[in-house]
Order: sequence, then C-alpha cells, then structure tokens
Amino acid sequence: MLDSENRLYVAHAEDKNLYIVPSMANRHGLIAGATGTGKTVSLQVLAETFSSLGVPCFMADMKGDLSGIYKPGTKTKFIEKREPEFGVQYTPASYPVHFYDVYGEQGVQMRVTVKDFGVMLFSRVMSLNDTQEGVLTAVFKIAADKNLELIDLKDLRAALNYVGQNAKEFQTNYGNISSATIGAIQRGLLALEEQGGDLFFGEPAFDINDLIDIEKIDGEKKGVISILAADKLYNNPKLYSAFLMWLLTSIYNNSPEVGDQEKPRFVFFFDEAHLLFDDASKALLEQIEKIVRLIRSKGVGVYFITQCPTDIPEDVLGQLGNKIQHALRAFTPKEQKAVKAVAQAFRKNETFDTEKVLLELETGEALISFLDEKGAPNVVEKAKMLFPQGQIGPISEEERRVAIKESGLEKKYGEVVDRESAYEKIIRETERRQKEEAKKKEEEEAAKKKKQEEKEKNKKTSSRRSSKPWYSSILTSLLRTFGNKLINSIFSKKK
Ligand SMILES: Nc1ncnc2c1ncn2[C@@H]1O[C@H](COP(=O)(O)OP(=O)(O)OP(=O)(O)O)[C@@H](O)[C@H]1O
Ligand SMILES: [Mg+2]
Repeated sequence: MLDSENRLYVAHAEDKNLYIVPSMANRHGLIAGATGTGKTVSLQVLAETFSSLGVPCFMADMKGDLSGIYKPGTKTKFIEKREPEFGVQYTPASYPVHFYDVYGEQGVQMRVTVKDFGVMLFSRVMSLNDTQEGVLTAVFKIAADKNLELIDLKDLRAALNYVGQNAKEFQTNYGNISSATIGAIQRGLLALEEQGGDLFFGEPAFDINDLIDIEKIDGEKKGVISILAADKLYNNPKLYSAFLMWLLTSIYNNSPEVGDQEKPRFVFFFDEAHLLFDDASKALLEQIEKIVRLIRSKGVGVYFITQCPTDIPEDVLGQLGNKIQHALRAFTPKEQKAVKAVAQAFRKNETFDTEKVLLELETGEALISFLDEKGAPNVVEKAKMLFPQGQIGPISEEERRVAIKESGLEKKYGEVVDRESAYEKIIRETERRQKEEAKKKEEEEAAKKKKQEEKEKNKKTSSRRSSKPWYSSILTSLLRTFGNKLINSIFSKKK
C-alpha cells in the first residue's frame, strides 16, 4: 500500500514502516527465501503497491496463485493478527490484471517471431554447441540477405533445409555449413515443436507497449499487472527463462532513455530467476548483466525472485538495491556458506545477529534493506511483510475467462496470422527450381533425341550408299557403254 507520502509501504519492522522510495525503485530488487517462506505473497504485495502508484508490472505465475490479484481478498486469521501490529486496517482491493499464456489456454496468446527471439536464445533453448550456433547464425543471416522472413518454426525449418541443400553455394560467403550440423539443429527444432514451440512463435507478435498500460478501477488509476501463466511453460525451464529473457530484452530495446524519474515506468518481476543463470553461456550472462545495468535509466526496475541469492551471479546481484530476504535453510555445508554470504551482504544492524535471524524467520517475515533517498542501502531490519489487498491464492477458471474478455486483447492476439514468409517463399523457389530443372532436362533429352535421330539418318544414308558392291559402278558404266554401242549399231544398220 502507499503511505501518506506516496511511498511504497510494503513491510513493517518493530518500530517503523519500511518502504521502497519510488525514485529508487528502478535500482532493482531481490526477493529470496527457501520454499514456503512467503516469496510469492511478497511479490504480490510489491506488485499491488506499484500498481497503486500507477506503475505497470509484469510477472510470470508459476502455480496460478498470483491470479488472485485480480480479485479483492478476504481477511484471514493471519491478516487479523497483523492488523493491530501494523496499525493499518485491512482494505480488500482489486487490480487491473491482463492474463497472458504462450499456449493460449489461460490467457491471451503471447507470441514472438523467430527473428526477434534471435540466435542466442534459440541456441540456449535447443542446447546448441558453438559450431551449431555458428551455423544457425549463418542461416539467420542468409535468410535476412535473401529476404526470407523468419516468423514461425516452419519458416526456420524451411530455411534450414534450404541452406542445407544449397550449402556449397553459401560456403564462400557464410562459412562451412555441414549437413550433420544442420541435422543436429533440426533435431533441436523438432524437440522444441513437441514442447509446443510452434504455438508461440508466430504472428501477431506481442507488442511490448501493451504491457505499459494504466487502467481505472474502482475510481482509481492503477498500473496494469500483466501475468503470464507459466505452470506449463515452467516444465521446460530453458524455454521459460529464455522467453522471459526475450521479454526483458524487448522492453529494454523498446523503452526510451528517461534518466532519473520520480517513479519507475515499469517493473519486471523475474520469478525462479536461477533458471536463467543455470549453465548460461558467457554471451548470455554478459547480455543479462548489461541489460540489468542499463535498463535502469529507461525507468524499468527488475526484481529477481529466487530461493537463494547465491543463485544469481555477483555482477547482477550487486545491482539489486532493494532486498527482501525470507528465511533460508542451512542443512548442508554449501547452504551454511550461502547463509554467511547473504548475511554479510547486508548493512549490519547492531541490535541483532543477521546470520542467526536469517535462519529463524517465520513465514511472511523477512530481513529487509531498501535504498534510501540517496541510493545508499539502509541498515538491515527484521520485518513482517504487509498483507496483500487482493486475494491470496488462485481465482476460478470462470473469473479468469471474464478477466481475459475484459482486457479486450483477444481481438488483437486471438487469431494466428500466417502471411507469406520464408516457408512459402522457399516452397515457391524450390518449385521454380524444380520446374526449371525439369524443363532443362526435357530440353536436354529432346536435343539428345534429335541428335540421335540425325545420327541414325546419316548412318542410313551412308549405309545405303555403301550397300552397292564395289563393281556396281564399273558394271553400270560398262552397261552404259555397251548399251550405247548397241543402240548406235542398230540405228546405223537401219540407215
Ligand atoms: N505477507 C503475508 N501475508 C499473509 N499471508 C502470507 C504472507 N506471506 C505468506 N503468507 C502465507 O504463507 C503461504 C506461503 O507463502 P508463499 O506462497 O508466498 O511462499 P513461497 O516462498 O512463494 O513458496 P514457494 O517457494 O513454494 O513458491 C501463503 O499461501 C500465505 O498463506
Ligand atoms: Mg512461490
């Protein structure tokens, strides 16, 4: 909720309210904690508060439980107990929510074109090695040079076939393209299609600007909360994290530079963030680090949610200024080491032992340190998260249907558009080539036949000539001579 000074009041320490300073909300954040410690509810509290401030947000919903934001909540025993502690009255509220789903089942379909998804994310999703990634880069380049648009997966498959079949032709300009490598990429593509990839690559592609929206609800202007259903998508962790990375990259590419602002333009929550970093290539890690560093000045805050902060690389972790740390477990030596590191990363509060408290926090409690007005981290506090005003837990299927309809986005994204692109052009080109080849072959055959016939004719003529015996001409001239003489003698006798 917002406090009297419009700050993002999200937690309560023993003797003070803890809030995120709106102008520092783009300095990113972290929500961490072991399973069941309250991360999702904390995310909900933050998202609702940003929305109340008129800041739109995006988040992926792993278990469907974030859909509750759409509906006013009900007072639970948990909330009843905390009301007097916080000194705030619980007021249920609903928020403008847009539901999305890459499979088009639990929300408006979110699609991306193959070209926009790009080589790096494709190679991650298909687990390509360096050589394969190199060939895929060449295929994308050839497609661009030949004006073959890569929109859906059949475009990519057609382009791979085309390049594979004409590899020799492309070798000089695009490097070595072996059929074995093309085959390996095609197998990766097949696996991607089996996971439903053919559904979410295509057009109409999702327009990032639709995320940055404000709607009036119960007489108040609130930032739209876009929720991507991720329970099914999450079954393929690489695809899930690559898709979110694409979204973040697109927001980065499409947002203007705005510098320091009173409040962020947009907030992106990246749940299960460790999936993004697991065996990520060096190039991808560099890309993530760069985007997190630069997106700030575009007025976008990124909040990572993960079990343990050590899941996130140092370069990224160091940029997350607003931290909500729920309880951690320390059963294994690795976990104990992590707890130490997490505790030490906070600015110490002399009134308690950070490391000890970190292990003792109850559900909905957290160690919190937000940035102050100048951007410096505050001393860590032991705090209780505020309760959300929307419903905790999922809404019904029927309510979801109504929400999807209300968003009015189905008109824009409901129907797939399959316009002419690489696939159709390549089919046409292949047919043209085949026809041309058939014609050439036909002409060659005809020429060959003609030649053969002429040869035969010549042979016949010469054989007819050569069929008379050698003495026939002598005989003829002799006959002619004798014949003439005989005629002459007859006539002369008559005279
Ligand atoms: N701030 C809070 N206010 C009210 N109830 C809360 C709060 N935090 C947690 N709870 C209660 O605790 C339960 C578990 O919290 P939550 O689902 O957020 O945990 P989690 O860390 O996201 O777990 P997981 O890792 O399994 O996703 C919630 O369903 C809710 O009932
Ligand atoms: Mg959760």
